[in-house]
Amino acid sequence: MKKLVLFFMAMVFSGALLAESPNDPEKKAFIDDLLAKMSLKEKVGQLRLISVGGDLTLDKALEQIEAGEIGGIFNTVVEPDLTNMQDRALKTPNKIPLLFGFDIIHGHRTVFPINLGIAATWDRNAIGKAAEVSADEATSDGLNITWAPMVDITRDPRWGRVSEGFGEDPYLTSEAGRIFVEKMQKQILSDKKSLVTTVKHFALYGAVEAGREYNSADMSERKMFQEYLVPYKAAIDAGSKAVMVSLISVNGIPATGNHWLLTEVLRNQWHFDGVVISDHGAIRELINHGVASDAKDAVRVAIKAGIDVSMNDEYFLKFIPELVNEGVLTESEINNACRHVLELKYDMGLFKDPYRNLDPKLDIDTMFADNRLHREEARDVARRSIVLLKNKNKVLPLAKNKKVAVIGPLADSKRDILGSWSGAGRSKLAVTPLEGIQKVAQKADLISYAFGANLSEDQQLYKFLNLYEMTTKFDERPADKMIAEAVAKAKKADVVVAFVGEAEGMAHESSSRTDLSLQASQKRLIKALKATRKPLVIVLMNGRPLTLTEEYQQADAMLETWFLGTEGGNAIADVLYGDYNPSGKLPMTFPDNVGQIPIYYSHLNTGRPHGTENMGKYTTSYFDSPNEPLFPFGFGLSYTNFTTNYSLSSNKMTKDGEIVVTVNVENIGDRTGVHTVQLYLQDVTASVSRPVKELIGFENISLKPLEKGEVKFVIKPEMLKFWNDKMQYVAEPGQFNVFVGSDSTTEDKQTFTLLDK
Ligand code: BGC
Repeated sequence: MKKLVLFFMAMVFSGALLAESPNDPEKKAFIDDLLAKMSLKEKVGQLRLISVGGDLTLDKALEQIEAGEIGGIFNTVVEPDLTNMQDRALKTPNKIPLLFGFDIIHGHRTVFPINLGIAATWDRNAIGKAAEVSADEATSDGLNITWAPMVDITRDPRWGRVSEGFGEDPYLTSEAGRIFVEKMQKQILSDKKSLVTTVKHFALYGAVEAGREYNSADMSERKMFQEYLVPYKAAIDAGSKAVMVSLISVNGIPATGNHWLLTEVLRNQWHFDGVVISDHGAIRELINHGVASDAKDAVRVAIKAGIDVSMNDEYFLKFIPELVNEGVLTESEINNACRHVLELKYDMGLFKDPYRNLDPKLDIDTMFADNRLHREEARDVARRSIVLLKNKNKVLPLAKNKKVAVIGPLADSKRDILGSWSGAGRSKLAVTPLEGIQKVAQKADLISYAFGANLSEDQQLYKFLNLYEMTTKFDERPADKMIAEAVAKAKKADVVVAFVGEAEGMAHESSSRTDLSLQASQKRLIKALKATRKPLVIVLMNGRPLTLTEEYQQADAMLETWFLGTEGGNAIADVLYGDYNPSGKLPMTFPDNVGQIPIYYSHLNTGRPHGTENMGKYTTSYFDSPNEPLFPFGFGLSYTNFTTNYSLSSNKMTKDGEIVVTVNVENIGDRTGVHTVQLYLQDVTASVSRPVKELIGFENISLKPLEKGEVKFVIKPEMLKFWNDKMQYVAEPGQFNVFVGSDSTTEDKQTFTLLDK
């Protein structure tokens, strides 16, 4: 089917699409000819991605570009500088244009929710909008490649980068990754709005032991292929033209030097024909990993494993020519890597249009500040990301004529609401929750505000957060005084809305935590607010699942808002006041306590399942903690209620057949709302143990009060496949359980049998 569409497109855009065909003779001739003319040093230059800054001033970078030592630039978003750099690149003997890259993780100038929040929408349109607007703005800024999507499966919230991914589930993450690639990169790379994607971090970065940043991952091949590798593969199948390699060791071999991963799996099994990029500084780190004796050896290991391009590393330039002269590396190995880069540039049309989208006269600030459409999209995605975790006595939504005390260190922080990896965003354009609430309340004097407490009283944490720039401010007033002020405001209000959680820098690269509770200063604040006996709404801003058992008991209502981006404050106000009925669902399990981690819904059963009769204490459990998390994967409430019932078209599936699951949904409450129907599957008996449940489908349906609707899923034998005891990808005949529900704890089960014919 895809091929047919491509063929049709080829007829329409023959020049452009032909350029992307791997067997295009014109392209092959062009690149063969170019490679034949290039010096070895020039080829090596193409394998280097460099970030201007620190010791490498713009002037020095310009010199290196003109000397043909750099193939791509990242981290610069100033169009006159980019234009200047491209001018220099075109002065090299073979006039090879530069690539311009940037981390566009969740929005560019207009910042969208962090990816964990985007995943919480469970809404393919919303995910697509975030990706499309990001690519639109990035390309307007002259960029042509990004280091996204990040599709590492994350099941350990101690790891700070869970904020960048789409959560714990292979299917949900794959869907998000696929959509990011389709919407950012588009069908045709020479499309001016195409932003080449780099799926990362290949592989298993999300599985670092104990959630400690840069630690190693060790995992059975079955679990890799069944779960952790699935989203990278989905993004590659969707056409992602670049892959970024993870910084960690995978089963004892650093990914950057892992021939099995980069060549046997990625190239040979998956037929990836794009560019393989190592992560920042990863080449020299091979020495610390203990698989290279020195920098020169590290270059050898990386190239032999299958790395094409290095990121911010000097060693390729220094040592590749030497290694080739010595015969340790062959020139054809370098040609091969270089060819991948040149093919990409060719497919992007850069040889014909190297200044694509570069307009040095553009006034970026005005352009993005005024972009109402993008801001509306960002607001819509943001409110769809919000998850309602508790709503006792229908405290929410708030009436617009109520007196509201807005309290907390995150209530009016323009920087934090953007979240990490928002380097091109403008915090001054961000709407804080306080600003959003003030706009919606009937009268301005209904809203009072107090800072309440510092994010933390731990000075070490501030030092850590402000290591590179001062973003998290410490209020020097005595803690008691700040709490007293907050309590006084709370007492005069009808309802208290407290904004607590993490600073954006706490949920980032290199920000692992072992304690996932709120900081002591925030806990004290909440306790004091609770003591006022006013209805207490806790609004969480954070980049990872936290342990919130105490706050869950204290709160009358609780909202998870992640870091929502530029329009975050408006989106929060939309939900608090009921202009939008919350519909987000958790893409990651929230543990009850840190000792349960890793905790995820799709675990295997044990021989002694929890709760088995007549087993006494000898079942899988803790004696000091429940097995259950605080909030399960897929969980999220609404201001209305839905009921569902469903039927299967048959309870038998033939080898080439299918089963249709028809779900009837009814809104039995008094507000319009969006319901996410979740479809899970269990293979009851197989040659290997299969998870108790796996998500295989989800669909949203919006229903008015008392309205009924229908959602259909089709289950096909392909969806029943798994890596069996012989590591073959097959579906085994037998019994399957289907579960439909509104989160992963659903017990609404029906059964069918896969026949062997
Ligand atoms: C991160 C990557 C990122 C790169 C460039 C690295 O530290 O691991 O995810 O794309 O920096 O900014």
